Amino acid sequence: MTLLSVRKLNIAFHNKPILKNVDFNIRQGEWFTLIGESGSGKSITASAIGGLLPGEMIITSGSICFEDKDITMLSNKEFRKLRGKEISFVFQDYQSSFTPFIKIGKQMDEMIQAHCQLTKEERREKALEALEEVQLPAERVYDSYPFQLSGGQLQRASIAMAMMLKPKLLIADEPTTALDSITTIHVLEIMANMKKKMNCSILFITHDIRQAKKYSNTIGVMKQGEIVEIGTKETIMYHPSHPYTKLLLNAAPTIRRLDQNIVLQ
Ligand SMILES: Nc1ncnc2c1ncn2[C@@H]1O[C@H](COP(=O)(O)OP(=O)(O)OP(=O)(O)O)[C@@H](O)[C@H]1O
Ligand SMILES: [Mg+2]
Repeated sequence: MTLLSVRKLNIAFHNKPILKNVDFNIRQGEWFTLIGESGSGKSITASAIGGLLPGEMIITSGSICFEDKDITMLSNKEFRKLRGKEISFVFQDYQSSFTPFIKIGKQMDEMIQAHCQLTKEERREKALEALEEVQLPAERVYDSYPFQLSGGQLQRASIAMAMMLKPKLLIADEPTTALDSITTIHVLEIMANMKKKMNCSILFITHDIRQAKKYSNTIGVMKQGEIVEIGTKETIMYHPSHPYTKLLLNAAPTIRRLDQNIVLQ
């Protein structure tokens, strides 16, 4: 079942094209990854889906259907209802997922309150459950200020907050770029487990081909505002057809070598 359908999306900034005919689908339960060079339009694509386009950037044509409803037509108020509940975000800059001087628990509580009719006790339980799900010491983190946590803990807390209301689509824009390699693996494994458990879809943005290879079902390759190639992970990794995809893969030669080593072992 198709959850999200982006159709011939064009976005411009002061008449300069930023996205050009961007077109892809995400199925329910699918891990869809966007890769491509810096400035190619990955984050703008994600922002458009969440109704978070920077000011003066406008959708000039095309549509974004979420569960068959064109969400490009939504008002800011309607988008606020959708965000957090149906579509949620995890960003590279996890510091900005939380307000610095408000305890994590209070921020989670406010988010639940904005979307659900639950008692105070039920809200607390929901937040603690979400923190446990990302393997954090729930009570302690609930009562902590963001600055009292490490980067990895804070990013896991932001995933907990993003997944707390069981969204249908999680958009993760380079969620691990600011983390060390062990924490990166931990965070990605948590996302993968949550996807499996909740059968949600993930729109994942990364520069790291190895991450794309490990977790994706489908990969879209972006260059200068366009998706130049889209295909299953296997097609993109082993039978790429666009010269730019080949260039990207060649820039990360260790993948094939790693694979060969695994086969040899
Ligand atoms: N707030 C903004 N105002 C004007 N132009 C912007 C803004 N944000 C991004 N752009 C432009 O939109 C284009 C796409 O940017 P985008 O942030 O989507 O790239 P990206 O693929 O996410 O790159 P990166 O991998 O570096 O994060 C770029 O040309 C960028 O300069
Ligand atoms: Mg980006």
